[in-house]
Amino acid sequence: MLVNVLDYRERARRRLPKIFFDYIDGGSFDEETMRANRADFAALTLQQRVLVEPKAQDLSTAYLGVRHPLPFMLGPVGFLGLYSGKGEFKAVRAAHAAGIPFCLSTFSIASLADLRAETKGPLHFQLYVLEDRTLCEELLQAAEHAGVDTLFVTVDTAITGIRERDVRNGFRSLTQMTPGLLARLALRPRWLAGIALNGLPSVRAIEHRPEFGRGALAQAANLSRGIDKTLCWKDIAWLRDRWLGKLIVKGILAPGDAAMARELGCDGIVISNHGGRQLDGASSTIRALPAIRSAVGPDFCLMLDGGIRRGTDIIKAIGLGADGVMLGRAYAYGLSAAGEQGVAGVIAVLEREISISLALMGVASIDDLKRRGRDVVTAKSKVWPPS
Ligand SMILES: Cc1cc2nc3c(=O)[nH]c(=O)nc-3n(C[C@H](O)[C@H](O)[C@H](O)COP(=O)(O)O)c2cc1C
Repeated sequence: MLVNVLDYRERARRRLPKIFFDYIDGGSFDEETMRANRADFAALTLQQRVLVEPKAQDLSTAYLGVRHPLPFMLGPVGFLGLYSGKGEFKAVRAAHAAGIPFCLSTFSIASLADLRAETKGPLHFQLYVLEDRTLCEELLQAAEHAGVDTLFVTVDTAITGIRERDVRNGFRSLTQMTPGLLARLALRPRWLAGIALNGLPSVRAIEHRPEFGRGALAQAANLSRGIDKTLCWKDIAWLRDRWLGKLIVKGILAPGDAAMARELGCDGIVISNHGGRQLDGASSTIRALPAIRSAVGPDFCLMLDGGIRRGTDIIKAIGLGADGVMLGRAYAYGLSAAGEQGVAGVIAVLEREISISLALMGVASIDDLKRRGRDVVTAKSKVWPPS
């Protein structure tokens, strides 16, 4: 039975080839930061209030400058089309059916133009700044043509962290189909059939560039190598000039970095450690949030991701000062477990968990939660969260 996000994770584990499940599920080195993302949520307490006069519940709230029906959206996750055939289409359809935004990763099988032909709903794009600035410019133009108004630039992956599960599975050195790999993939016939139905997966946005190779595996390896390793604040300043829509910097944990993004005219940031996939030993995102909110003031848009598996995690993040929350693995598990229905199922589970928990807290709306914040989300220990 698929009762909560962990059930979707378990079904994804059974449906996907191990090499892809581990790629989604794993973190870097000892996975300490990945675990801290969860453990630090568990160290926060929600205040129970009873006998509160009932009011109509309202889960809508504003983030990224727009009011949305739910306080969370689908963040960028690479290669959704490898976890389920036409995965990006399935995810965007489920997001838009719930009225929430979807952010397409640079590393996607479907292109922005493909998705725009599919849906009129809010579509965001996540950019990895590439050394090849001509290709970067092409990606920005494709985003403009697709009517993307919010660009997320990811800044925490100039160097890819070592995820040891991927090393052991040979994922990092994978560039083409080998007989051994095919044999391993054939152990998951249902998944294989779903993928094969759509032909050889390929990164549509760079299909016209033969130098990236053929097929998603080779293209992914070459794209990863092409990420600009020298990215620095002056590139963000350049992007701020170049991109006329909203610009959000994704991958910030330090208050000083958040303040710098604000100073350069960015519209917001995502407090993120890439789901514990980059610097192992870095702070959890929820722990980083209070000091960042203090550094940037009340009006700068703060999104947060990392370890969101329960509606109560979302309540805690918003109570401590996030404007909105982004899902990563949670919906990737849903997609891998049950396609579009799985993504819709994960969104519905989280909505239900938020709704029930807020009611038990005697809080009528997300906006009320934002107003009351630290009065209703408190620490189990005196050390955490810092005042
Ligand atoms: C399989 C996988 C692929 C990802 N691909 C991208 C990506 O292409 N671009 C990006 O900015 N972040 C990417 N991320 C990071 C997510 O956007 C997000 O920061 C992270 O998943 C949040 O942690 P959580 O999965 O524990 O919720 C990826 C994460 C996972 C698990």
